[in-house]
Amino acid sequence: MKNLIKILIVFAMGLFLNSCYYDSFPEYSEEIDPPEVPDVVSYETDIMPLWEGQCVACHNGNVAPDLRPENSYNALLNGFVDAGKSEESSLYLSLIHAPGVSPMPTPDNKWPASKTELVKAWIDQGAKNN
Ligand code: HEC
Repeated sequence: MKNLIKILIVFAMGLFLNSCYYDSFPEYSEEIDPPEVPDVVSYETDIMPLWEGQCVACHNGNVAPDLRPENSYNALLNGFVDAGKSEESSLYLSLIHAPGVSPMPTPDNKWPASKTELVKAWIDQGAKNN
């Protein structure tokens, strides 16, 4: 009889622990919830503000590309952005931590797709100074 109670208790605990499994939330996935990218990406409104703070902390004129607002466009088009070709632009490749380029902003910090997809779209739309 005692054994039966033990078995029942273990069985009940198993049910209880299992029920927790169903409480977990589905993980955020960019495929389910793709980042929104405007049809026309503006350098001034959408892209330039991305460099504020984190990137400019290092890219302040001492390290190329110079990402301070007044210089960033020209600096980026000078070797870091191949207009129309995001996959050949070290700016985009560094943000998605692609092999062969330095990972930005740091090796253990990768921007979410909501930001990197904006940069990609801007480059693929011709990297305009708009
Ligand atoms: C902690 C300092 C630091 C921060 C923060 C930083 N960078 Fe850099 N970045 C560097 C240094 C130093 C180099 C040049 C040496 C190298 O390639 O590692 C560089 C190189 C680059 C390059 C050229 C990469 C290549 O391999 O050709 C790009 C593009 C770049 N950074 C963009 C950015 C952007 C955009 C951000 C913000 C998301 C950023 N960086 C944040 C220090 C930094």
